[in-house]
Amino acid sequence: MKIFAGSSNLGLAKKIAKKAGLNFGKIEVSRFKNDESRILVKEDRLGKEAVVVQSLSQPTDHNLIEFNLICDALKRMGVKEITAVIPWLGYSKQDKVFRQGEPLSVKVIAKMLQVISLEKIITFDLHNLAILGFFEIPVINLSARLLLEDYFLKKINKNTIVVAPDAGAIKLSTAFAHKLGIGVVYIDKKRDLKTGKVKIFGISGGVKGKEVIIIDDMIATGGTLIKTANFLRKKGVQSIKVGVTHHLYVNGTQEKLEKSAIDEIVVTDTIKPKIKSKKLKVLSVAEIITKEIV
Ligand code: R5P
Repeated sequence: MKIFAGSSNLGLAKKIAKKAGLNFGKIEVSRFKNDESRILVKEDRLGKEAVVVQSLSQPTDHNLIEFNLICDALKRMGVKEITAVIPWLGYSKQDKVFRQGEPLSVKVIAKMLQVISLEKIITFDLHNLAILGFFEIPVINLSARLLLEDYFLKKINKNTIVVAPDAGAIKLSTAFAHKLGIGVVYIDKKRDLKTGKVKIFGISGGVKGKEVIIIDDMIATGGTLIKTANFLRKKGVQSIKVGVTHHLYVNGTQEKLEKSAIDEIVVTDTIKPKIKSKKLKVLSVAEIITKEIV
């Protein structure tokens, strides 16, 4: 079994290959002058199975096509079973028809990912578990929570509390707080569906003087975290740390986070780390994926 990688997260793919003791499949991934993806698998013989690693991070649509073309090339070379490692499933926030006139985008992406038959997909901390139902093949939804728990377990004290930044993060944050044996409070946040702007209406408990850990599944524009952090500072918290699985590295977001009231941001490498910063700590999910594929 060989492991192949598209251009989205080569670093993670290399780590997995090393840990799993798998050979890295030779592949040329480039673009034609008109911007179309160009794939060339440079192997003479391939086994029955292969692993393909590709995050649907920016440029999302391009990375999706790249993934499909790699899988097609492998199938044409005789590979029967492809395990797709898609640590970040792009479009997963578009998991509902929020307003009339919108598509059910992630369902369309699920169909597109299954154009070339796959054995299974391995992903991380899906935004909504209902997405699993949009696939006809097994989807293993791994979690980076254990990594974050281990990290923060060494940092907590009696004064630490977990904050869920919105209703969607309640389940994740509560489980996290229970695991760490500390308290949890919830923030009432709403997002304007037209403008995307975030507004905070209140919090379920006191946080004055507390060392806060905010747990969420992703950072996109950073709006949720920055608004939450400003709100918490006004409530008199002592420090703010953040634990998130996916950092989408949307243009300008990390710069805003750098200037924000947040002291530390812990993310994983489900998406290729694009920025180095003292505030940013990146944990690797390579070990968790390796355990799943070997
Ligand atoms: C919301 O449902 C998610 O869990 C995140 O809180 C949100 O997607 C983060 O997005 P942004 O960084 O743009 O506020």
